[in-house]
Amino acid sequence: MYKILSFTSIADNRGALIPIEQLKDVPFDIKRIYYMFDTKLDVVRGKHSHKYLEQVLICVNGSCKIMLDDGYKKEIIKLYDKNIGLYIGPNVWHEMFEFTKDTVLLVLASDYYNEAEYIRNYEKFLKYVKNNKTVF
Ligand code: TYD
Repeated sequence: MYKILSFTSIADNRGALIPIEQLKDVPFDIKRIYYMFDTKLDVVRGKHSHKYLEQVLICVNGSCKIMLDDGYKKEIIKLYDKNIGLYIGPNVWHEMFEFTKDTVLLVLASDYYNEAEYIRNYEKFLKYVKNNKTVF
């Protein structure tokens, strides 16, 4: 349902840097990048799945939790480490919550924004995955 990716941090006496290359450090071509910040306390973001999109979430500052649901089981992952990427494939319902004031959540995506490939209704999501539209 998800994969944890571990990035290599290059540190010297000036500080640290993490490079991420498509098809090397993440398993897809990166077509889009977006980031969430200034998220209000108690807000839950996401609440959708994607039919095709692959994404890697990296919490580059602060922390947040991600709830992942493949229609059969749910897991919660806490992101707080810049070296870690959370890979989420298609057909995984995800919700982001417990953002800290300083959280910056960076997302690398395999395709351009396309509202048509979102499922934003949980009941529709369950029907979609249970009708064998998905491989986990
Ligand atoms: P939304 O999908 O609600 O964010 P969340 O991940 O919390 O569900 O996106 C908020 C708005 O931003 C919505 O109008 C769609 C728009 N948007 C884009 O235009 N491009 C993007 O790449 C993304 C992720 C969202």
